[in-house]
Amino acid sequence: MSNIKLLKPVLFFVFFIILFIIFFISKPSDASDGIAIYWGQKGNEGNLSSTCATGRYAYVNVAFLVKFGNGQTPELNLAGHCNPAANTCTHIGSQVKEFLSKFGNRGRKVYLTGAPQCPFPDRLMGSALNTTLFDYIWVQFYNNAPCQYTSGNTERLFDSWNTWTTLVTAKKIFLDVLISQILPTLKKSGKYGGIMLWSKFWDDRNGYSSSIFASV
Ligand SMILES: *[C@@H]1O[C@H](CO)[C@@H](O)[C@H](O)[C@H]1NC(C)=O
Ligand SMILES: *[C@@H]1O[C@H](CO)[C@@H](O)[C@H](O)[C@H]1NC(C)=O
Repeated sequence: MSNIKLLKPVLFFVFFIILFIIFFISKPSDASDGIAIYWGQKGNEGNLSSTCATGRYAYVNVAFLVKFGNGQTPELNLAGHCNPAANTCTHIGSQVKEFLSKFGNRGRKVYLTGAPQCPFPDRLMGSALNTTLFDYIWVQFYNNAPCQYTSGNTERLFDSWNTWTTLVTAKKIFLDVLISQILPTLKKSGKYGGIMLWSKFWDDRNGYSSSIFASV
C-alpha cells in the first residue's frame, strides 16, 4: 500500500496533463491486459530499453506530453532524462525503435489516451471522453473520496467502476488500484485493461509490479 502514498507527488501532473504517448511492448493489435508503467519523470529509473526489457510491463506511458493541440508543436517533458528545449531527447526515439524491433516487427502506434479522475463525469475531460476517440483511459481512483477504495470498503470503487465501464466508449480502462484482492471483480468487465503504476523509479524500489504481476 505504500505506493499509494507515492502517487501523491504526481497528482499535480496527472490532474491536468491528459495525453500520453503509449508504446506497446506486447501485442499492439490485440491489446492484452497488464501493467502500465509511467516512465520519464525521474532519472535513476533506467532507460526506456531496460524498462521494456524487464518483461513486467505491457505498456509504457512516456510521460508527459505537456504541449499539444491547436497546431502547436508537441512537446515532451521527460524531466528525469532529457531536455527537449536543449534537443537532448533524440536518443529516446532510437530506444523506442530498438525495443520495438526486439519485440518483433510489430510496428509503432500512438494511441489517444487520457487520465481522468474517478468522479463521473470528469470535470475537465467529460466532453472530450464523449467524443469516442479515446483508445485507453487511466482513471485515477486514488485520492478521490467519492469513488475510491478505502480499507475494507469496495462499494464506492465498484459503483464507480461500473459507471465508467458502462458509459465510457474508450476501449480499455486502467486503474491505479493496488489491491490485488479486488482485481477478479474488476476483470469481469471486458473494458478492464489492467493497472497503472507510478512509476518505473518507484517500482524498482518497492518491487510492486513483480508482486502483483500474476494477478493483473
Ligand atoms: C540502457 O541501459 C542499459 C542498462 O544500464 C544499458 O546497458 C544500455 O546500453 C542502455 N541503452 C541505451 C540505448 O542507452
Ligand atoms: C458525457 O456522457 C456521459 C454519459 O452519457 C454523460 O453523463 C455526461 O454528462 C457527458 N459529459 C459531457 C461533458 O457532456
